[in-house]
Amino acid sequence: MKDLNIQTIIKVCQYDELSDQDKQLIDKAKEMTQHSYAPYSKFKVGAAALLANGAIVTGSNQENAAYPSGLCAERTTLFYANSQYPDQAVLTLAIAARTEQDFIDNPIPPCGACRQVILETETRYKHPVRILLYGKKEIYLIKGIRDLLPLSFDGSEME
Ligand code: THU
Repeated sequence: MKDLNIQTIIKVCQYDELSDQDKQLIDKAKEMTQHSYAPYSKFKVGAAALLANGAIVTGSNQENAAYPSGLCAERTTLFYANSQYPDQAVLTLAIAARTEQDFIDNPIPPCGACRQVILETETRYKHPVRILLYGKKEIYLIKGIRDLLPLSFDGSEME
């Protein structure tokens, strides 16, 4: 028997340490929480994606009385980006979330389904998606989805 050691390195930083472009993406993700439709959870999530052509596409979580019919901010944003710009890789995805009181202290991690969709985006465009997770206390900078989804299923096993 042996161990399979999978390592994830996440950069933890403060807003001031980010590049201007990353700051802009975080700002937009935070802004987009205002467009969230979250009457059930009251948890407002916003996301902003930077595409290879420089376009920034934004989105927010959209809930539904039939709960599973709603969609997270990350998937709303990626599906919109992929629909509007089907030939543009997604370079970076920023995510922010707030309760009714304020933005959350710790970075918001994407749910499992969103991780899988981010993986598909990487596979489709053959380009890693950098991920910026905003929290009031600190920001996580992740270099690609495999750091959040080790042992991932990307369909290559089916070939
Ligand atoms: N949500 C997101 O939009 N992104 C995440 O990464 C986690 C959860 C949304 C889904 C739902 O509208 C609300 O937050 C509570 O789960």
